Amino acid sequence: MRYFLDGETSTEGNVSNVVPIRRAAAGQPALTDRRGGPMAVVALAAAAPGAGCTMLATHVAVQAQLAGDGPVAVVDAAPGGALLHWWERRRGKLQAPRFGAACPPGAVAGALDDMRAAGIRLCVVDCGVGDADSLAGLAAAAGMVAVVSDAHAAEMGEAMALGRALSRQATIAYIVNGRSHSGEKLGNALAAMSAGGGWAAGMVQHADAFAVAMTAGRTVLESHAGSDAARDIVELWGNLRGILLAG
Ligand SMILES: Nc1ncnc2c1ncn2[C@@H]1O[C@H](COP(=O)(O)OP(=O)(O)OP(=O)(O)O)[C@@H](O)[C@H]1O
Ligand SMILES: [Mg+2]
Repeated sequence: MRYFLDGETSTEGNVSNVVPIRRAAAGQPALTDRRGGPMAVVALAAAAPGAGCTMLATHVAVQAQLAGDGPVAVVDAAPGGALLHWWERRRGKLQAPRFGAACPPGAVAGALDDMRAAGIRLCVVDCGVGDADSLAGLAAAAGMVAVVSDAHAAEMGEAMALGRALSRQATIAYIVNGRSHSGEKLGNALAAMSAGGGWAAGMVQHADAFAVAMTAGRTVLESHAGSDAARDIVELWGNLRGILLAG
């Protein structure tokens, strides 16, 4: 497992110099007031490759920091390490997540314990593609899994099956990420997926800005502030936050 601090490399276990920030989004309870304890976890998983888990993990992490829900950490449990690579590019920029870690799914529970002990308030985990068996332990450790899908019927069906299976271990939310769709179709897809149980966390429209921003270690929240893409992310974090508070 690898941990890093803002701007400097750390060794495993040496993650303690975090200054917790306890600021609620205006008019809302602090994330730390939830029943589940002082650190919330959002794990993003998909049943199909390329659904957008990594893109959404980076954007949720930065938007949570912007909303005053930090300090945030990111944990990369997906093969390829794309989230950690983004985090390394992000270091030193505004609203960079405090810690980044990469570890296999089986080591996520330990990483979450370390993040909790270090005063992290929100940990965003990129699980990548998996099935009910490979993700069960990780879901139990996280307590909340956001299942990501495009609006294709086949992909949605697989996502719903994954969500149903993981609902034994964790609170389930669905995100429709419209890499190739937009508009009404996404809303219908989100309604259909959550109708079988689980929360409708939000939908994100197709925007080339996501890929452009991420290659530079950024997000659309700063590179395309005020865009529809940025608004989708703000709304998504607002909904995920509400789901976390509702338990
Ligand atoms: N809403 C979107 N609009 C446009 N492009 C998107 C959108 N979401 C993701 N992408 C792009 O689609 C590609 C796949 O996204 P991403 O890497 O986040 O998916 P992933 O689920 O992490 O994939 P993998 O299974 O390979 O880990 C990336 O190039 C990303 O920039
Ligand atoms: Mg990925």
